[in-house]
Amino acid sequence: MTEKSDLIIRIAGEGGEGVVSTGDFISAACARAGLEIYTFKTFPAEIKGGYCLYQLRTSPERIYNQGDTFDVFVAFNGEAYELNKHLLTPGTVMVYDGPGGDFEPEIPEGVTAYAIPMTKTAKALGALRSKNMVALGALSVLFNINEQTLIEVLTNKFKPKGEEILNFALKSFDAGKELGAAHTKDDPFAVADSTGAKDVILMAGNEACGLGAILGGLDFFSAYPLTPATEVAKYVSAHLPKTGGTLVQAEDEIASLAQVLGASYAGKRSMTATSGPGLALMAELIGMSTMAELPCLIIDVQRGGPSTGLPTKHEQSDLFLAIHGGHGDSPRIVMSVEDVNDCINMTARALNIAEKYQAPVILMSDGSLAFSTQTVPTPNPDDFKVVERKRWDGKGEYKRYEMTDDLISPMCDPGVEGGSHVATGLEHTETGSPIFSPEPHEVNSRKRFDKLLPVIDELGPQEIDGDADAEADIGIIAWGSTIGVVREAVARLRAEGIKAKGFYPKLLYPMPVDEYEAFASKCKQILVPEVNYQGQLAFFIRAETSIKPVSYTICGGLPFTPADIVTKVKEIS
Ligand code: COA
Repeated sequence: MTEKSDLIIRIAGEGGEGVVSTGDFISAACARAGLEIYTFKTFPAEIKGGYCLYQLRTSPERIYNQGDTFDVFVAFNGEAYELNKHLLTPGTVMVYDGPGGDFEPEIPEGVTAYAIPMTKTAKALGALRSKNMVALGALSVLFNINEQTLIEVLTNKFKPKGEEILNFALKSFDAGKELGAAHTKDDPFAVADSTGAKDVILMAGNEACGLGAILGGLDFFSAYPLTPATEVAKYVSAHLPKTGGTLVQAEDEIASLAQVLGASYAGKRSMTATSGPGLALMAELIGMSTMAELPCLIIDVQRGGPSTGLPTKHEQSDLFLAIHGGHGDSPRIVMSVEDVNDCINMTARALNIAEKYQAPVILMSDGSLAFSTQTVPTPNPDDFKVVERKRWDGKGEYKRYEMTDDLISPMCDPGVEGGSHVATGLEHTETGSPIFSPEPHEVNSRKRFDKLLPVIDELGPQEIDGDADAEADIGIIAWGSTIGVVREAVARLRAEGIKAKGFYPKLLYPMPVDEYEAFASKCKQILVPEVNYQGQLAFFIRAETSIKPVSYTICGGLPFTPADIVTKVKEIS
């Protein structure tokens, strides 16, 4: 039987049953074997209970998304089975809790099923908590997951929790192995053999944003915890003190951005991380950052909204808020990240951009990417260049808001003689004195917008997937983590002989209008898939360019799959 090297395993059960740990252990074992990993997790807002899903995709080749559906489905309980049974198509495999679980599945024709009495075995061993370790042991045997590595990673996790917990886990893992070995293998799926350890790390999007911030020379971080952004602060809190930086947990999001702006005024590279509801609260202070020209970075890890909405679910619905959320004319720079590697590099870059352009920068991540673990090349700190803000040279009269050729006015840290720096939310003269006559507001408004325009060249050109000059039947424009899905869809369409290209802007505002137009001019049709109800990027494309895109939106709390995009392209062609 030929083995399939690009393997997708979906594990599902109830929150608190250890679904996430099981998936994490397998992911770590694959990563240590030099394989690529891309995971997707979705769980309820409750700490315990509710449907919890972990999908991991592994391959020796580069992967860009979590895949379409599973090859192997692991059902911890009846709810998980009920929710996934329609995907049990011929050729797929199910490993399920039975006998002795809370359900009795019907096995469709062509589906291979391995019954593993997870609950019964764990109970017999006196540790129901270790049901997931029974499953892990069975999976290791059935799908060639390196046993020694699994034991190492689970020991690292459980040892700090106490010898008793570790021993139960190991005993249950062994019992699971025996149960797995009792089955005759009857499917083609196996984790690919090790390709040799690589210089990579396995991390989630939120952690990667934290790492990127530290590599990018962060001095100060203030945040209020908000799902799904909290882990950015958690990572920074563990590592920023080592580089001499400071993290504060503020009383709310308004206070956190106010503290960030205060630290920025004091000359420090400063940032916060939040999600949609927090970004909404920050809107007034984003205007302050724009008006006072105080650099700051805000990472927005989007979730389902509005209001408390779907706190743990994926959505890309903050684009309107990020670009235009605020009062008055308050320009800012809006960027986005595609994957975990981007989370590292773009966060570091966004800090430089904020300092250079003396403006608020919003970096958009999302709920899917926040928790997705992926293998990324270990970053070399020497590759990260810290760009300093333009500072006053101490000569002549200091004017904080001086009208310079590049429209960037020199800043001055507090305490420098002669460099009194007025950070004001009022309209002002070049020295920072309030002024309310018509002309300065017009001139300064233009300055605040125009000074950002060079960022289009600095961050460009935006990536075109395919030959920029070639004519295409379909051009797909995607942003955020949807890009990874579109990359695979474009490759599949091309493999079927459909001329497809992708355009993947990471700079969302100011909009690189000429690049959009040039891309679209070579495509018969433009499709814009995004995970929000209104088609927010498609809206901006219609408003700012001459392109008439087909908007394709979903908003069920889940990301697109490559198959969704391929199907849509065929539908509209
Ligand atoms: N023996 C002992 N402990 C075990 C174990 C075992 N066999 N298997 C797992 N655990 C531990 C894990 O180590 C983890 O502990 P940790 O948090 O100290 O690392 C804990 O049990 C939970 O297990 P895990 O596998 O990580 O999660 P799960 O699959 O059971 O799913 C969550 C539960 C994490 C998804 C869910 O409980 C949760 O926290 N949801 C988030 C809710 C949220 O963010 N709400 C905010 C809304 S605003």
